[in-house]
Amino acid sequence: MIELLTPREVDEARVSGQFVAKTLAALRERVGPGTNLLEINDWAASMIQAAGARSCYVDYAPSFGRGPFGKVICTSVNDAVLHGLPHDYVLIDGDLLTLDFAASVNGWVTDSAISFVVGNSSAPEDRHMIETTEKALLAGIGAAQPGARIGDISHAIGSVLEAAQFQVNTQFGGHGVGSTMHQDPHIPNTGKPGRGYVLRPGLLLAIEPWVMDGTSKLVTDPDGWTLRSSNGRRTAHSEHTIAVTGSGPLVLTQLA
Ligand code: MF3
Ligand code: CO
Repeated sequence: MIELLTPREVDEARVSGQFVAKTLAALRERVGPGTNLLEINDWAASMIQAAGARSCYVDYAPSFGRGPFGKVICTSVNDAVLHGLPHDYVLIDGDLLTLDFAASVNGWVTDSAISFVVGNSSAPEDRHMIETTEKALLAGIGAAQPGARIGDISHAIGSVLEAAQFQVNTQFGGHGVGSTMHQDPHIPNTGKPGRGYVLRPGLLLAIEPWVMDGTSKLVTDPDGWTLRSSNGRRTAHSEHTIAVTGSGPLVLTQLA
């Protein structure tokens, strides 16, 4: 199902986007060498509670995981790229961490992810990988114009990722958002322009390029959730939720 929001509903969804943006910014600020992934989950859970928001993850039991997820945030470290289930692990300086967080506020879901290196010393290759997903995200957002198609977003993302010599996995990608987290349309992270669903004002999309290096194969952890690169190399992921409006894309999960 594809859900289209009225302009008034898009305004309501902005509140959700600001909550998700503030939560990720606060967590990023607080995380450092010595932080346990389980503490990050606890902090996120308190912020959800304080805001009167609702977690989209805790009860989520999709076919691609060993549901229910049971935590409120995904914490993916180094070779883990998607759906990292927080576990008892203490971060060290130089770890590459992805936080992926979605919540519902007043009935509207927004979804966002950031990758960053923990501590003060980051390897140039890690920075390059993270910057590539951020650049691909911006390109994808730029293509999300009313009247354009899903394939235009996919093509914009894929062009950036492929120019940086990363292989793209299309098992997981972006998606529609609205009153629930995962909706149609699916947005592969590569594709042909001019194809697919035509973007209309009121459509909410989570756009989420992610990359591995030298493989496009994922392996699932024994925890049944965490997806890692098959070659053990580091990975990165960047995600925003946008609203397609008559005057172009509006990034809901960017701090205003
Ligand atoms: N928010 C993730 C996404 O970007 C999905 C996480 S599903 C979970 O689509 F079950 F792992 F929480
Ligand atoms: Co998402």
